[in-house]
Amino acid sequence: MYPLIVFVCALSLLILSSDTLYATRAQRSSMASIGVNLTFTDNHVVVSNGFVRMIFSNPEGHITSIQYNGMENLLEVINDESSRGYWDLVWSPPGTPGTTGTFERIVGTSCQVIVETEEQVELSFSTTWNSSLEGKHVPLKIDKRFVLLRGSSGFYSYAIYEHLEGWPGFNLAETRIVFKLRNDKFHYMAMSDYRRRYMPSPNDRSPNRGKPLAYPEAVLLVNPVEPEFKGEVDDKYQYSCETEDLKIHGWISTDPPVGFWQITPSNEFRTGGPTKQDLTSHVGPTNLAMFVSTHYAGSDLVIKFKNREKWKKVFGPVFMYLSSTGEEPLTLWNDAKNQMLEEVGKWPYSFPASSDFHKAHERGRISGRLFVYDRFITDEKTPATSASIGLAPPGDPGSWQRENKGYQFWTKTDVEGRFSIKNVVAGTYNVYAWVHGFIGDFKNDSTITITQGCDIDVGDLVFEPPRDGPTLWEIGVPDRSAAEFYIPDSDRMYTNMFLANDHNRFRQYGLWERYAKLYPDGDLVFTIGQSDYKKDWFFAHVNRKRYDIMYEKTTWTIKFKLHDVNKNGTYKLRLALASAQLSDLQVRANDPNTDSPLFSTGTIGGDNAVARHGIHGLYWLFNVDIPGKFLNLDGENAIYLTKINEGIIFPGGIMYDYIRLEGPPPCCS
Ligand SMILES: *[C@@H]1O[C@H](CO)[C@@H](O)[C@H](O)[C@H]1NC(C)=O
Ligand SMILES: *[C@@H]1O[C@H](CO)[C@@H](O)[C@H](O)[C@H]1NC(C)=O
Ligand SMILES: *[C@@H]1O[C@H](CO)[C@@H](O)[C@H](O)[C@H]1NC(C)=O
Ligand SMILES: *[C@@H]1O[C@H](CO)[C@@H](O)[C@H](O)[C@H]1NC(C)=O
Repeated sequence: MYPLIVFVCALSLLILSSDTLYATRAQRSSMASIGVNLTFTDNHVVVSNGFVRMIFSNPEGHITSIQYNGMENLLEVINDESSRGYWDLVWSPPGTPGTTGTFERIVGTSCQVIVETEEQVELSFSTTWNSSLEGKHVPLKIDKRFVLLRGSSGFYSYAIYEHLEGWPGFNLAETRIVFKLRNDKFHYMAMSDYRRRYMPSPNDRSPNRGKPLAYPEAVLLVNPVEPEFKGEVDDKYQYSCETEDLKIHGWISTDPPVGFWQITPSNEFRTGGPTKQDLTSHVGPTNLAMFVSTHYAGSDLVIKFKNREKWKKVFGPVFMYLSSTGEEPLTLWNDAKNQMLEEVGKWPYSFPASSDFHKAHERGRISGRLFVYDRFITDEKTPATSASIGLAPPGDPGSWQRENKGYQFWTKTDVEGRFSIKNVVAGTYNVYAWVHGFIGDFKNDSTITITQGCDIDVGDLVFEPPRDGPTLWEIGVPDRSAAEFYIPDSDRMYTNMFLANDHNRFRQYGLWERYAKLYPDGDLVFTIGQSDYKKDWFFAHVNRKRYDIMYEKTTWTIKFKLHDVNKNGTYKLRLALASAQLSDLQVRANDPNTDSPLFSTGTIGGDNAVARHGIHGLYWLFNVDIPGKFLNLDGENAIYLTKINEGIIFPGGIMYDYIRLEGPPPCCS
């Protein structure tokens, strides 16, 4: 049960508070009579609709002011005008790994009024690359849009990114919208039912109040302004969330009561599929809309453009919802979740004026039914329940988790394995899926072409997960996460009480260091039939810290007994990993010291999920042949899993999802 709910950040426990909802509605209908108003001043554009009044720098298109509910500006007025509400990106020349690069705020050079009616004002702030900017500016045409609608308590933003034919190649490592809210007002943050709280102040991270830990993002609050935060660790990665659950997050001011929320009604434009994780809101007070990033994934998620490659993509719209529906943070949070459902219901929006944003009638639908067939479990195909199934650009099975140029559309199957995906942007796709409880990735080989208004029934799809022989033993649950394994209590020095419940225990700082405390001399030994993976399998295979600096390699042992070993047969070890960071995992059978392991992954991974308090990063599946001649007849056997890459200062590590040993395929069947 529990791994299933770990990732639910915002959608669970929805409490419909009809009082507050109706109060908002009444308030809205009275104000909706005021049309949207647009005025230009010297270097600014002002837009208002009776709820909200926004000021943009012209032609840069930074949001310099958001006035709402008597608060003159929700944004941090101390900051420079370019550093309050803005779009930005990180890019680098082609050929580099591209996880770092040049930070660029997206500065418009031209402002255009796209729509100006009493119902809607839509502004465009755009910038276009030309060859005189080669090497100095990102080679993209970017059109940032802002929309204010009549009667709407908030505003929308989206952007059209375009790389034209003939333009030089480059890497895009990150792009996002950033809001820096007023530090004197916004003190409460909510991004899920479990992670919502009063937050430390940004000053608490300063050298005289905080002590940076193993990396600069993590700071131990030694002498915070509010004593209640003393002894906590502040780290923005503790508020990360999976894309599929990341639909709303934001900040609350209690005086006056104001909520600033970011609502993402669709994930179609985010990269890396539904399991990609990213930042939400964090101490600042900062609120982010992450569209592209390498977080929890590594350089595979850097978008790499070749010379002359044509590309166009719309990021957003996202809705910045402003609310004042109650005094209590919980009331505001519940109202915001209802607003989120309302926005989801309106997707795809009809109002964006850009023809690059695909409207409902330009999209298509696909439906079908997914089954799993694993002949070593049952003789029949069975409906795949609550499976993740989606459309992503054509590629290999599982390629969606590294895909980053197109759109993706995902849903979950129902109890009968049925699925329906609406509002798919026209184009060519593959159908991909993965099923809780089974290893591997499903892909249907036929390419699907979605056209305007199409309604395609793909019929029955059958996933045959990788399997050669019967299960001899298994460790864990195949669900692409390490949540079911042993997660230690954190060091008391680093314990954050708000993370102490089951759902978020793995997000405590520094759990990787507990390994050396639990296993000071010998490494983990797991005995099939005796050990319990919930207690005896540490959630992350990390190096052992010694003398504060050196990390030494570790070897985990799985002990098991076999009977009637078929010396001629080939056994199969299924190694499903939930994460890898600069790790080489080697497999040996019965001889821990041999120079030639049966298998080595080579150095893989860059998702940094252990350090970023994730319980998974990218998914990997390795299938290792173990010839029967390496196994002992009727006796004790051991598989040794060695994670090498010694001496890395920071604990690169591996998280296992699931391990299984299969016997040889039954003869002549
Ligand atoms: C529009 O806004 C301007 C400047 O904020 C204001 O002077 C004007 O009265 C407004 N017009 C209407 C019709 O509300
Ligand atoms: C190239 O772009 C720069 C910056 O926007 C602009 O000043 C310049 O006029 C442009 N050059 C050409 C040839 O369009
Ligand atoms: C792939 O899709 C086609 C068309 O819907 C279907 O006929 C076929 O059975 C599917 N294959 C699998 C393996 O599900
Ligand atoms: C293994 O192979 C050898 C040689 O081909 C054969 O003699 C023997 O019967 C086989 N054993 C089993 C258990 O299949």
